[in-house]
Amino acid sequence: MQSWLSSNVSVHRPKERLCRREAATMRNSSRKCVRLALLSGFFLVALFYFWKPSSKEVDISPRQDTPIKKLFTGKIGDSTNGYDIPPHMKEEVASRLAQNACICQADKETFHLPLSNLLFPRVWAHNLDQAFLEFHPDPDSVKQHRADEYNNFQERSYNPADVLNVAEANSPLQYPTQGVLVRPLKTIIIPGLALKEEETKLDHMVSLTATLGTFDVAAKVDMVSIQGVGEKNMVLLSPLLSALNKQLQSVTYTNIVFHPKTADTIQFATKDHQSFFPIKIEHRNNPKLYNSGYQKEYNITALVTIATKTFLRYDKLKDLIDSIRKYYPTVTIVIADDNEHPQPVTGPHIEHYIMPFGKGWFAGRNLAVSQVTTKYVLWVDDDFIFTANTKLEKMVDILEKTTLDLVGGAVREVTGYTATYRHTISVEDGGKEGDCLHIRLGYHHAIKGFPNCVVADAVINFFMAQTVKVQQVGFDPRLARQAHLEFFIDALGHLHIGSCSDVIVSHASKIILPWSKTDVQKAYEKFRYSSSTTNAKTHDEIFYFKNRFKCMTSQ
Ligand SMILES: *[C@@H]1O[C@H](CO)[C@@H](O)[C@H](O)[C@H]1NC(C)=O
Repeated sequence: MQSWLSSNVSVHRPKERLCRREAATMRNSSRKCVRLALLSGFFLVALFYFWKPSSKEVDISPRQDTPIKKLFTGKIGDSTNGYDIPPHMKEEVASRLAQNACICQADKETFHLPLSNLLFPRVWAHNLDQAFLEFHPDPDSVKQHRADEYNNFQERSYNPADVLNVAEANSPLQYPTQGVLVRPLKTIIIPGLALKEEETKLDHMVSLTATLGTFDVAAKVDMVSIQGVGEKNMVLLSPLLSALNKQLQSVTYTNIVFHPKTADTIQFATKDHQSFFPIKIEHRNNPKLYNSGYQKEYNITALVTIATKTFLRYDKLKDLIDSIRKYYPTVTIVIADDNEHPQPVTGPHIEHYIMPFGKGWFAGRNLAVSQVTTKYVLWVDDDFIFTANTKLEKMVDILEKTTLDLVGGAVREVTGYTATYRHTISVEDGGKEGDCLHIRLGYHHAIKGFPNCVVADAVINFFMAQTVKVQQVGFDPRLARQAHLEFFIDALGHLHIGSCSDVIVSHASKIILPWSKTDVQKAYEKFRYSSSTTNAKTHDEIFYFKNRFKCMTSQ
């Protein structure tokens, strides 16, 4: 309405001026002026009724079924007519196929020795639907709500470019099977279209059909007749096959429905053959580059920000900062702090963010990471200590030279034990009730050129990552107390993760004899490990509802 009004005003103004000038030069013709005003008034009213700039409404509800989609999913037939003998099942291979029916199963305990669980960690299973729904006052409505939300999620994330598409055998049609992209509302030439059939046929004809765009030709070829130019369905016909093929080289597609991330399924057909291919409708992602200055050697200050979250452990934090400064005197340190009585943490290149009391672990991580302006962010806990083995250059190097988005290091405990905490994560389809989440110790494979590094899905609390990537995944702020793997579950499918055992940070003493604990330590432990039932409930809810798992198994 606002824009309509302003454009109205600008339409009106020249006429006013015209009127005044006329009045000045021809005083007697004021009637003419009145008529002109009336006319323009009428014109404006008419404009109001008939010219609505936003009248072209576009349905942007999630779109799953187009007539074309029904056609092309229907054509994947079975070509084994006439062969009725059932095949012999190969159990060993067939059992590896996804069944969409995962079950929640723990390892059986085969033998029991005092340390057997440490040496051969058993798989335990946690029934999330049971755990979460059991204590819920209205489990059926939760189930229904989750199903509705999931449906909605699937509809919204549906992209026609992901649908299975099988090319027919012996089709005379040549077309691009993937890689055609048009920016929203723009025009492209469709590459690779051709017809290969007997030249002796009397007439050669092909048709093109789209849903979200129209066809045209960028150049006209003689002896080819075209129907439906500028429409969603265009037919090309020629007595000469070579002319038709020449014409097909300049066929254009124009996207007419604005939807910045979808695809149009194009039907390309002759009278007897049909083929389908997607045209992606997308903006290309704009890059987010970091200007870290020209570097001969990695300049950690320019490339990395160290982020941490502190709670009740200012003495530990001070030790951490002092140890960082020994090796990296100018690197920026971002600290998220949700203490009840925050104390100042000052010094050069320190950013101290005070949060509401007890906001929690992931909220703090989120805040700290959101403030990072360098290409990489290094996550550390507030009770870590940098040593000569904490070589951040090594982490930068692997991130720069591989496709990894995040790389974990190792944490040396006071006992001398060094942990890398590598896990693999996988999700198995489970149908209507939800999927199964499986977490196992271990990694996927070693990395060429980096002998101490492997690829995994989850790593330790000491990691360096591309800042943009971590910001995209984010840390669920509902996870207030103990949480770690939850971030990596959210990152599954988004981040390429590695782990290197040769970048080592030390862990300040964790195992403290109870009688030597200070009051602050006691308070910290009380807060961190207290209210474990609410904590467990939150985890169950996040896994059951947000991630739609019914089961979790882990080691
Ligand atoms: C490293 O980067 C920092 C921050 O951008 C800059 O002040 C410093 O001069 C750089 N050091 C070298 C050796 O280039």
